[in-house]
Amino acid sequence: MCGIVGYIGPKATLDVLIGGLRRLEYRGYDSAGVSVIGEDGRLETRKKAGKLANLVAEIEQHPLPASHIGIGHTRWATHGAATDGNAHPHLGGGDSKLALIHNGIIENFAELKAELLAAGTQFASETDTEVAAHLIAAAYEKSGNLEQAFASVVRRLHGAFTILIVHQDHPDVVLAARRNAPLVVGLGDGENFLGSDVAAFVEHTKRAISVGQDQIVTLRRGSVEIRTFDGAEVVPDEFTVDWDASAASRGGWSSFMAKEIADQPTAVADTLMGRLASDGSVQLSEIDGLSHDAIKSLQRIYIVACGTASYAGDIAKYAIEKWSRIPVQVELAHEFRYREPVLNEHTLVVAISQSGETADTLTATRYAAEQGAPVLAICNTQGATLARESDAVIYTHAGPEVAVASTKALTAQITAGYLLGLFLASVRGATPAAELRTIGLDLLKMPGRVAEVIKSSKNVEALGMAMSDAKSVLFLGRNVGFPVAMEGALKLKELAYIHAEGFAAGELKHGPIALIEEGQPVIVIVPSPRDADSLHPKVISNIQEIRARGAKVIAIAEEGDTQVAAYAEHVVHVPQSVSVLAAILTVIPLQVFALSLATALGRDVDQPRNLAKSVTVE
Ligand code: M6R
Repeated sequence: MCGIVGYIGPKATLDVLIGGLRRLEYRGYDSAGVSVIGEDGRLETRKKAGKLANLVAEIEQHPLPASHIGIGHTRWATHGAATDGNAHPHLGGGDSKLALIHNGIIENFAELKAELLAAGTQFASETDTEVAAHLIAAAYEKSGNLEQAFASVVRRLHGAFTILIVHQDHPDVVLAARRNAPLVVGLGDGENFLGSDVAAFVEHTKRAISVGQDQIVTLRRGSVEIRTFDGAEVVPDEFTVDWDASAASRGGWSSFMAKEIADQPTAVADTLMGRLASDGSVQLSEIDGLSHDAIKSLQRIYIVACGTASYAGDIAKYAIEKWSRIPVQVELAHEFRYREPVLNEHTLVVAISQSGETADTLTATRYAAEQGAPVLAICNTQGATLARESDAVIYTHAGPEVAVASTKALTAQITAGYLLGLFLASVRGATPAAELRTIGLDLLKMPGRVAEVIKSSKNVEALGMAMSDAKSVLFLGRNVGFPVAMEGALKLKELAYIHAEGFAAGELKHGPIALIEEGQPVIVIVPSPRDADSLHPKVISNIQEIRARGAKVIAIAEEGDTQVAAYAEHVVHVPQSVSVLAAILTVIPLQVFALSLATALGRDVDQPRNLAKSVTVE
């Protein structure tokens, strides 16, 4: 959701803050703001509704003084519309000497606001956040001790929050607190940084600390002190960021999404690296924490995730069940948590998340841990909360994903799901080892095939552009093609803002076929015809059913599938592969299609309306 950055050190603070916000803008882009304490000792704030560019223009008109300490925020609105007044930072106290930024939701803000109103506090915004600024300022006025005042107030807040403050009377310190929302510290030489994620400061330092739950950070130029909300000292775990700032910059690409689509051969190759031997056998040392006995005694796997990550889970389900014969259920994390599923030590919960900060997914995994179920994360972000809180982590190595629409993180997640399936199957001996190695060898060829699909995607781009007047696009698939179809529809909705639905091809005749009328575009994921038990003939029948009712069909089919051309207006070919693995390939034309159709409509493909990259509220 919101992006947060803090800095103290010798550099020009405004440059550090704006640079950090630029790289965090994907987290929210409803408004942005900064507060700095100038060399003259005065706290100054600028904030503006709309994208970061509006704030930059505002600062050009009303410059800020040189400074060496400050905080910055980019907002995804929850409480209060996206206006200048609701933008962060919020100021606290009658003298407005305290500035505060917040990511998350303060659930008990109404009760706290009533208390402040009764004491005569004037509010300048409709946000939940402003209560925290006034409460801290009031506590500080009483005690004269900023750190104590800060700790006493954050202990009173319920919900999810990362909060940063600076105070005009204390130009040597930034205070930060974290509960249920991400916060990382960047360690510099004579300077230190705070950010919602490492992108906020990676151009300045790669040394980082992931702040734990219910902890407070006292950031000074030469020191970083971390304590729990109760005051106990914390010895932090430092890590080194394994990518550099150029990985999170657009380079010469028209959009981050275009760049990230093109990054996919590397994302898949890096996720496979060190995990598949040249003979196709899988090695997953990351999950050594789960003993072979524990894996053998597993009775069920739940995969929990949201959005695109949940489709990676759906694809993994086909592979894991087929190869390991362990029953797998995929559930949206927010539904899973609140139906209170029955879990125990024989139920493995696999959580998939690019950011590792999705509140719904974290809530689900915390519930699973409480029930005694082992939790395995598939996560793309080092030091993320999900990774820290899980029993084991398979990191996807897609690198930073900046565009809101997930692309390379998805193909890396699918890859990790296949690796997990192969690993579980080999431990359980459910599929002959030679067969698993053959699949592993095919998986090793995927980076090259992904590159081929991307190289030959010009015709898909042209199709997307030519179809920009479509009011609705339907997507059909069977088996792993079904979640691919749903992902294709999600991409189109999120980027182009047009109606799109993904269906299981076999389900169509049970209702959705009523949607088909003359000219309705339908994209069909066609399975390989080569398998003995191939679903190819069934999908061809489904295509015939919709064509008979006027549908215009675009088929995504395997190279060498010569039959399909007779049933489709357009055929997009992808390289042959083991059929369960084909999802990595067939999803890519759908990403390209959504990108080009949305671009033709003039949409902001990197920052689609109403969305944020990392959804840190439930
Ligand atoms: O960070 P996560 O993978 O947990 O995010 C999950 C979803 O919010 C995310 O995949 C979302 O659906 C994307 N915007 C889809 O492109």
